[in-house]
Amino acid sequence: MNTWIKNGHLLDPDTGRDGLFDLLIENGIVKAVGSVSEEQAGGYEVIDASGLYVMPGFIDLHVHFREPGYEYKETIATGMKAAAKGGFTAVCPMPNTNPVTDRAERIKKMLDIGRKEGNGVHLYPVGAITEGQEGTTLADIKGMVKAGAKAVSEDGKSVADAGLYRRAMRIAKEEGIPVLAHCEDRSIAGNGVINEGEKAEELGLPGIPCTAEDVITARDILLAKETNVRLHLCHCSTKDSVHMVRAAKAEGLLVTAEVCPHHFTLNQEDIIPDDADYKMNPPLRGKEDMAACRKGIAGGSVDVIATDHAPHGKEEKELPMADAPFGIAGLETAFALTVTELVKTGYLTPMQMVEKLSLGPARILGVQGGSLKEGSCADLVIADLDNAYRIDKNTFVSKGKNTPFHGRAVTGCIMKTLIKGEVIYQND
Ligand code: DOR
Ligand code: ZN
Ligand code: ZN
Repeated sequence: MNTWIKNGHLLDPDTGRDGLFDLLIENGIVKAVGSVSEEQAGGYEVIDASGLYVMPGFIDLHVHFREPGYEYKETIATGMKAAAKGGFTAVCPMPNTNPVTDRAERIKKMLDIGRKEGNGVHLYPVGAITEGQEGTTLADIKGMVKAGAKAVSEDGKSVADAGLYRRAMRIAKEEGIPVLAHCEDRSIAGNGVINEGEKAEELGLPGIPCTAEDVITARDILLAKETNVRLHLCHCSTKDSVHMVRAAKAEGLLVTAEVCPHHFTLNQEDIIPDDADYKMNPPLRGKEDMAACRKGIAGGSVDVIATDHAPHGKEEKELPMADAPFGIAGLETAFALTVTELVKTGYLTPMQMVEKLSLGPARILGVQGGSLKEGSCADLVIADLDNAYRIDKNTFVSKGKNTPFHGRAVTGCIMKTLIKGEVIYQND
């Protein structure tokens, strides 16, 4: 199908185009950018994007789809639907499923299910670093890469054994894939539930100190320096982590970082007692940490906004804070929170926002995307940056309704998501 997207405000971080440009799409490819004549586009499907922004599809480096093992929380197909609704045309599913994605056949299986049951959103699977994420035996990283894994991670935890992790980094380096690091020292985090500090004391909950994240961030950066692997730090939440990323970049290391919308929008003061929708790992930190995350994003230390989309069932999230699982559903709120909290407040220009959501992640993964220049794949999103509404979890297409943002006033709405020129999501 051929499409003419007219009158939209194009934001293309690859070419720097920031203004009114029409797009002509032929056979899933961006054929022409700029003014298009009626005769050039004769017979083409017309999408009128007047008053809207046209951007490369977003790429989420960090999602949890729960298939296999916890399909009641999310399946690959429902996760892909939520992605499309959130403006994401590609996602990286983390390996902490049951069984764990720790071998080639499971990578293949995921891709196969995505192809058969999905909506076309690109899946870039992340393989585990150790078998069963048990931290003792290295997984078959090379085999997984051959099968289509685009990165490795032990997300949900860190590899505690630094020697083993160092070997994994060497293999990842050889294979040319990044290591996505969940930084958490379990011996410090213990059975903590929310950030250690006044709030935890007030609520009588065990705390997770910032150092649980920071000591592993430091370790991982040092190992990345030695092995020269591309290290991407997941869900940075502390001011010291942001500081360490900045220092690593200044040293020229291949270190990048993401911050999740919940960590730049909320801090521990916002936690509602006994509401496990405020429970995630890493936890909501102090005000200074939140401010450091915002500044890190604005100043360029933080390359990516990723969701850590972590859907859970209603019953388990209704458990007492201490017993409920960590995580929030993030795919369908990330864009609006980014616009509201970072663009409308002046931390990011719309173009910088698109960079953090598309080109940044594409570069880290080494995949196509983040560009709408002539010849690129027509994976794109059309959005309204001024549409104001309240987040309603009952409208989520994700199975996970676990969000602390229900009822929150936001601005910014995805109108259409296209993959290879085909509309896969449309806001009616
Ligand atoms: O909040 C989180 N949820 N953090 C993690 O590290 C894991 C994730 C999950 O899988 O639910
Ligand atoms: Zn994690
Ligand atoms: Zn995660």
